Amino acid sequence: MNRLTNKGKIVFGILGIFIIALITITLIFIFTPKDKESKELSKYKSNVIEIMKEKNLYNKINEKEYSKTIEIMLEQNEFKEKYLEDYYKIEYINDNSFPKNINNLLNKDYTPTEINYINNNLKEDISILLNMKHIDILKFKDITNFDIKNLERYLNYSKENSKYDMKTVVTYVNIGLDLEGYSKYESYTKSEAENDLTIIVNKYHKLPEDFEPSDLVNLENTNYKLREEAASAFKKLTEDGIKNNVIFYPFSAYRSYDTQNGLYTNYKNRDGEKEADTYSARPGFSEHQLGLAVDVRSSNLPSNLTTEDYKWMLDNSYKFGFIIRYPKGKQHITQFIEEPWHIRYLGVELATKVHDSGLTYDEYYDLYIEKR
Ligand code: DAL
Ligand code: ZN
Repeated sequence: MNRLTNKGKIVFGILGIFIIALITITLIFIFTPKDKESKELSKYKSNVIEIMKEKNLYNKINEKEYSKTIEIMLEQNEFKEKYLEDYYKIEYINDNSFPKNINNLLNKDYTPTEINYINNNLKEDISILLNMKHIDILKFKDITNFDIKNLERYLNYSKENSKYDMKTVVTYVNIGLDLEGYSKYESYTKSEAENDLTIIVNKYHKLPEDFEPSDLVNLENTNYKLREEAASAFKKLTEDGIKNNVIFYPFSAYRSYDTQNGLYTNYKNRDGEKEADTYSARPGFSEHQLGLAVDVRSSNLPSNLTTEDYKWMLDNSYKFGFIIRYPKGKQHITQFIEEPWHIRYLGVELATKVHDSGLTYDEYYDLYIEKR
């Protein structure tokens, strides 16, 4: 009886375990497939799934890979079926205006590639693009000094100057060359003019009328003044010149606003404004007011360098921190005729870079110094 009871217990036990296992397996079988299916499909949020179903797009969308862009377009009621394929190619970015923006851009015939570029690079100023018709934005992709705020100007300038490639157009427009000199300019504060020895001064950048550098000193044996650092660099330049048989003297250096005004006015009265503007800066727009520019003459000339001395200056002045500011053939950029005699102090490091770049300072400044 006991043995039988034990056997019975074992049989029932095994049977029990078997039944429980069977029930468990059945339950798993019943529930698992459904679960799996809903998991695969529920990559989209349930409210979005409902919207898909309403639009009869549930199957169409779900047979493809998940797209956050699609999800957000549906969820925010911005989904347009005609753009379905495009949405798949547009990377989602976390921005409240994303759905509206991409519809607007698609509506203007921007491609998903263009839209991805715009979203990743020009997001802040997207409204500029939304306010104009489609443009080939990718042609600006590799232009480091591209500034979307000048976009319309680039397009106009490019149309009028088909000889320039887009890289040149961007730099020239950034400098301001699409506008008449002095018609639109930035004004420096006194502290900017005082504290930054590298600032660009040209027909698009003005110094305050009452700016006078605080550390002007006389150039040796003269009454011409430069800022201290530039003056000591000028001494070294002069000495190196002498070692190489290149003898030159300053014939103008720091000029106050009033002095420049007097000079410019005289030239204007003599030659007319248009002519004067090619060789003399208007007051407030001269590097001479910075105390960082000096005009030099060869020992046997009244106000210019000889060809040989100029050549030496072109090849060597950067070693002492000076550049030739108005080189030959660059009048369309500098807005001044060639001035072999006018050198500008920038410090050795920057002057070397500018010299090696072969660019005018106007171009170099826009490409590598201007903050944007
Ligand atoms: N001659 C140069 C441009 C000046 O007047 O500053
Ligand atoms: Zn000068």
